[in-house]
Amino acid sequence: MINRCLFPVAGYGTRFLPATKSMPKEMLPIVNKPLVQYGVEEALDAGLDQIGFVTGRGKRAIADHFDVNYELEHQIKGTGKEKYLSCIRGVMDRGVFSFTRQSEMKGLGDAILTGQRLMGTEPFGVILSDDLCFGDGSGVMAQMVKLYEEFQCSIIAIQEIDGDDIEKFGVIAGDKVRDGVYKVTDMVEKPAKEDAPSNLAIIGRYILTPDIFDVLGWTPPGKNGEVQLTDALKVLSKTQGVIAYKFKGLRFDCGSIDGFVEATNYAYKNVYKPI
Ligand code: UTP
Repeated sequence: MINRCLFPVAGYGTRFLPATKSMPKEMLPIVNKPLVQYGVEEALDAGLDQIGFVTGRGKRAIADHFDVNYELEHQIKGTGKEKYLSCIRGVMDRGVFSFTRQSEMKGLGDAILTGQRLMGTEPFGVILSDDLCFGDGSGVMAQMVKLYEEFQCSIIAIQEIDGDDIEKFGVIAGDKVRDGVYKVTDMVEKPAKEDAPSNLAIIGRYILTPDIFDVLGWTPPGKNGEVQLTDALKVLSKTQGVIAYKFKGLRFDCGSIDGFVEATNYAYKNVYKPI
């Protein structure tokens, strides 16, 4: 049973400056909900209710978001405005929230390693909340949990990306197991387009077995001088097997301005329900 989910949220969000100078990127709203809340709801819907955040300096707003705001609660109690809080109250009731800090931004791999204590010794989910996903039927993490039950190894979500954009992703090579499911044979972080082993790009959803921590512990900094999760997963793919899964649904890159605007428009039309 997987019941923990890690949210690495320590990054600087430089592409959103100046908005992210003193506010975490993960608190930027898509219509009326911060990005990170969409991710947490996806985890809870998949049965992952032990939520761990790897934060950094300037990210306190995330912890405050998943805590009671007594003054506000007191002010609006019994008024018509109370209903606006019901959705975040529901999230807080369903999950347990823990926090730790990444002292230096040394990359996603280092952020995951920092979360080791929070995740313990069982397999766990990882959600990068700036990749906003709307699953087809069930949420993307719920789809992946189902696949984990079948394969019992690390699972990574992938999406077909054509053209030059492939250079922004980790990219896999894999043997097809069945439609949408591949056994990973190679992985490259942010390859030049001509070196990309396929058009199958890794997106911000993972289920990782705890063996990843050992590998991350000795993985040297890779692309951009950062400890890359992709490099550690490549090692796991050789030793224990890693499954890549073409998820069913939509993904928006809310770490970029264009993706954020697209997500906002999509969510306003298709997801947002006026309270
Ligand atoms: P990104 O590179 O997309 O996020 O990292 P960023 O660094 O915040 O954004 P830009 O490029 O400066 O605009 C992917 C995810 O990994 C986390 C980020 O918070 C984001 O969720 N991350 C990245 C960490 O937690 N720690 C790191 O050292 C690096």
